Amino acid sequence: MSFSENAITVLKSRYLKKNGLGEVIETPDEMLQRVAKHIAQTEKDFDYWYEKFYEFMASLKFLPNTPTLVNAGNPLGQLSACFVLPVGDSMEEIFEAVKQTAIIHKTGGGTGFSFSRLRPKGEVVQSTKGVASGPVSFMKVFDCATESVKQGGVRRGANMGILRVDHPDIMEFIHCKEKEGEISNFNISVAITDDFLEKLANDEEYDLINPHTKKSVGKLKASLVWDEVATNAWKNGEPGLVFIDRINRLHQIKGVEIEATNPCGEQPLLPYESCNLGSINLSKFVKDGAVEWEDLKETVHTAVRFLDNVIDVNNYPIDQIKNETLKNRKIGLGIMGFADMLVDLNVAYNSQEGINIASKLMDFIQSQSHIASSDLAQKRGCFPAWEESIYKDQNILMRNATTTTIAPTGTISMIADCASGIEPYFTLAYHKQVLDGKKLKYVNERLLDRLQSSGINVEDFLEELIANGGRLKGLNVPKSLEDLNEVFVTSMDMDYTAHIDMQAAFQAYTDNAVSKTINMPNSASVDDVKQAYLYSIKKGLKGLTIYRDGSRNVQVLVSASNK
Ligand code: CDP
Repeated sequence: MSFSENAITVLKSRYLKKNGLGEVIETPDEMLQRVAKHIAQTEKDFDYWYEKFYEFMASLKFLPNTPTLVNAGNPLGQLSACFVLPVGDSMEEIFEAVKQTAIIHKTGGGTGFSFSRLRPKGEVVQSTKGVASGPVSFMKVFDCATESVKQGGVRRGANMGILRVDHPDIMEFIHCKEKEGEISNFNISVAITDDFLEKLANDEEYDLINPHTKKSVGKLKASLVWDEVATNAWKNGEPGLVFIDRINRLHQIKGVEIEATNPCGEQPLLPYESCNLGSINLSKFVKDGAVEWEDLKETVHTAVRFLDNVIDVNNYPIDQIKNETLKNRKIGLGIMGFADMLVDLNVAYNSQEGINIASKLMDFIQSQSHIASSDLAQKRGCFPAWEESIYKDQNILMRNATTTTIAPTGTISMIADCASGIEPYFTLAYHKQVLDGKKLKYVNERLLDRLQSSGINVEDFLEELIANGGRLKGLNVPKSLEDLNEVFVTSMDMDYTAHIDMQAAFQAYTDNAVSKTINMPNSASVDDVKQAYLYSIKKGLKGLTIYRDGSRNVQVLVSASNK
């Protein structure tokens, strides 16, 4: 096993079993044995699958999402990261959803909601003759509840709040997180409809619909709302966008409506659905400058089987969630360490070749995961809602309604010690302040290897690199290192189109959605943000999160995990 020092620190603080005194009573190896044992329990040939599951985690080729690592074989037993709960337009339904949220957070899951069914602020409430508080006010209730419940006892819960662009309270929603610290346990996104985009293209007004009466209660100029969204995203990265009609058009199950996604946006789900994720660490699949396709194929097949087993051994926190999840049996296999893979292939992230590799890779992973799910369907049966799915039309048996999702891998990439998700490196080197005032130096390992074999004074060069914000670009790089400039790129070295092109390349071959931050320099304008929006629509994304450098005091996404 090859956990790094950083990985062991993370594992000790959040993942390994502790006794009543808070002392760690499990080794990382025992953790993986516990997980493999729990997930292999449904297998007839337990020994074989236990060994396979253990081996592909121990070699850090694959890791499941955090709740699986923490809870498998432990009393909580809740293994999924992603949930969507419906919020109905009555006090009973709203507070039922608050309660369900608390229960899910307690077990380590994250929750997404659409607040679009709630009547707008100020509408008279028949039973009390009072006035309705509106979606934003109720979001604050969910936010407070989240604040008090630590996820699985280890981290604060994460939420996604979504409001349709045609909800009468849309303007209040767009501004609801403007003040730093407000509703801080939520990410927020505006659900953009096709009708809205059409009105925007024609520079027209669109109708605001009261979800309670289904009647139009006013109009807004589409360009005005677009401007407000872009201005706020420019100011502090929120709201994000989800292209909700597009998500529904591409949904694998017919006759049902998706309203929301999980907290980081990569997993659109039906009300009460949950999904478990797992990610393949691509940094382990390059040998002598070439992708090891056979090994990757085998890993995809094992991962699909693993994630399908998770559905059956999962301890669902609420009966409705169990029922809805078992109908479609969605799983989300994704990747991490993509930036590492590109460096090992000597290819720049922001190049056509980089995009080509992304497309080829995800096409391969998606089609192999479909073959794996189809093989499982022959043995274990199709998912129960298969008759209502696109797979019936195509006459393809499937065990799972979806197989692929690209998650941020915020924590599991630290455990695997690789670049997170499909993000480029955020920085190549930095000083990290540790508790006793000492400074630790972090350096990208692949870069360090190359520096050490180049014959330069590595220490001096690293100090210059750190002073340059951890970027090679703009630095006086010695001649012997010039070829590194192109390949060791960071997220700030490329413009937004390169980020969106990469997200689009992956989205084209992903059943669910892709988590990615579109980084922009501090100097970007509101107009640049709007251009990025239009470009993302043209490229077929399901959603978009932009972040302008330095626009938030506390940069939540800019963590060491993005390195
Ligand atoms: O790396 P890890 O498995 O911990 O999670 P991730 O890939 O960063 O996030 C995947 C999903 O886990 C998110 O979209 C959320 O649904 C959930 N999550 C959460 O509930 N709370 C967090 N603090 C982080 C993630």
